[in-house]
Amino acid sequence: MKERSVGILGIGSYVPEKIITNFDLEKTIDTTDKWIVERTGIRERHVVAEGEATSDLATRAAERALLDAGISAEEIDLIIVGTVTPDMQFPSVACLVQNNIKAVNAAAFDLTAVCSGFVYGLATGSSFIKAGTYKKVLVIGAESLSKITDWSDRNTAILFGDGAGAAILGETDAGYGILGIDMGADGNGGDLLRVPAGGSRLPTTEETISQRLHYTQMDGNEVFKFAVKVMGETVNKALENAKLTAKDVTYLVPHQANMRIIQSAAKRLGLPMDRVVVNVDKYGNTSAASIPIALDEGIKSGRIKNGDVIALVGFGGGLTWGATIIKWSKP
Ligand code: ACO
Repeated sequence: MKERSVGILGIGSYVPEKIITNFDLEKTIDTTDKWIVERTGIRERHVVAEGEATSDLATRAAERALLDAGISAEEIDLIIVGTVTPDMQFPSVACLVQNNIKAVNAAAFDLTAVCSGFVYGLATGSSFIKAGTYKKVLVIGAESLSKITDWSDRNTAILFGDGAGAAILGETDAGYGILGIDMGADGNGGDLLRVPAGGSRLPTTEETISQRLHYTQMDGNEVFKFAVKVMGETVNKALENAKLTAKDVTYLVPHQANMRIIQSAAKRLGLPMDRVVVNVDKYGNTSAASIPIALDEGIKSGRIKNGDVIALVGFGGGLTWGATIIKWSKP
């Protein structure tokens, strides 16, 4: 039997209204706009308002993706949300979104792959469609990293932001859609990027809170080295899977963690920066949300067009990484 082709039928994103600029951070921690821009490329980030949570952002992005695809929520068979900042331990963000958009026929679950959550979600969702189990899958990357960021720690406070991006997966014309994927993990590097407390190993206590163990901890230099190495490798593996090479890539849509990481990944792949979608300056690192937000902006701005080959690439805590090669064709 001929394999089904699976593509993105609609895409949408949402970032909260509140903005924190580097100049705002200058007032609260020992840093400067100049240092942050030079080392990361980030100028500002959006953060959720009081009372706003990840499912609110995910729901807005999902509504926009449904509108873009021109389908109703009842047509969705499965919702997958990549997130490490769920509203609560359970129910999942996916179940909260299912209720908000009234996707009454959908199964729903969250997936934990940190910043690789969206590419892991695309690989998972598309497999259900290829297998013939489901017809339409909603994949979302959504985060409120501001809630797990220690705003007094200059090593991490400058990096993160909040947002959500969503894509509707479904069958597409042969030769288009997702042509290749790659996913990987290295649990040995888990300590490089983590939130130590709040789980079953170290439940939240007054002591864990006073030691600030409920916030993100990171070995920035090691994560930097890992990211630069793995991004090119995973894109090349996914391209091989798609029987293509880096020369065929029209646009690279990387996880938006740091401008210097993006530049060196593009260099390793031999891609000039005008073929890379970058918005890290406006949003900072929004983890699982960063790739779908960048993809949405690349498409809505008219840069990415039907027939273009795009390489999505993510890396993050776990450690995890992954890439998706898509020949873009939106009905
Ligand atoms: N403002 C001013 N100075 C600072 C700041 C700051 N915000 N942060 C650190 N510094 C200082 C350091 O203390 C150090 O000073 P010293 O030389 O006197 O000791 C100096 O600046 C250099 O620090 P480095 O850590 O070496 O700076 P580097 O150039 O490596 O940049 C950064 C740090 C931006 C964190 C970088 O390592 C990075 O981006 N790493 C990757 C992080 C990442 O992508 N994480 C997310 C992964 S995705 C996920 O799963 C969430």
